Amino acid sequence: MKTGEDPLWEQLWAPYDENTYAQVLSWIPAGATVLEIGAGDLRLARRIASRARLVYAIEIQPALLGVRSIPENVQVTVGDARDLPFPEKVDVAVLLMRHCTWFHLCRDKLVAAGCSRLITNARWRLGVELIDLALEPSAYDDLMIGWYACRCGATGFRSGPPEHLTRLVAETVAEVDQCPECRHRGS
Ligand SMILES: C[S@@+](CC[C@H](N)C(=O)[O-])C[C@H]1O[C@@H](n2cnc3c(N)ncnc32)[C@H](O)[C@@H]1O
Repeated sequence: MKTGEDPLWEQLWAPYDENTYAQVLSWIPAGATVLEIGAGDLRLARRIASRARLVYAIEIQPALLGVRSIPENVQVTVGDARDLPFPEKVDVAVLLMRHCTWFHLCRDKLVAAGCSRLITNARWRLGVELIDLALEPSAYDDLMIGWYACRCGATGFRSGPPEHLTRLVAETVAEVDQCPECRHRGS
C-alpha cells in the first residue's frame, strides 16, 4: 500500500515512445495471457490486446482510464499493484516503471503466481528487457565487475579488476541480489 514515503515520480503517468511499445509487443506471443502492472491510460494494453488472448491491466489512478471503451479481452483492475493478488496462468508480465521501489515485490508475486517472464525497463541503459524470472539471481558479492540489475530494482555498475572487463562482460547485465542499495534499504 501507498505510504507517505513513496517517491512522487512513481505516482506520475507519462507515455513511452513507439519504439518502446514496439519492443514490448515483439515479446508478446500471439494468443498469450498478459498482465500489465501500472497500465496508465491503457494505450499499451490496447496494443497488447491486438496480439494477446487476454490482458489483465492494473492501474492505481482511475482518472487515467478515461471514457473510451475498453477491448473485450482487457480486464482492468483499479488498485495498488502491491496489494492486489496477481492472476495465475499469466504467460508474460509487463512493468514499465524504471527502478520502482516495489520491483522486488512484483517479482516475488509473479514468481508465486507461476509467471516466469517479465518485460521491464529496469535496466541501466539497455532500454526494454525480457527477464527470465525462473533464473535465480546470484549474489552481488560474487560479481567481479560489470553491470548488474538487482532483484530490488536497483541497477548499476560494479567496478573491479579491469582485466576482467571483456566485451561480453561489458554487454551483459548480471541478475543479482543483496546489492549495496537493498542492503542500505534493509530489504
Ligand atoms: C511510467 S507509467 C507507464 C504507463 C503504461 N505502462 C504505459 O506504458 O503507457 C507507470 C504507471 O504506473 C502507475 N502506478 C504507479 N504506482 C502504482 C501502483 N502501486 N499500482 C498500480 N499502478 C501504479 C502510474 O499511475 C502510471 O500510470
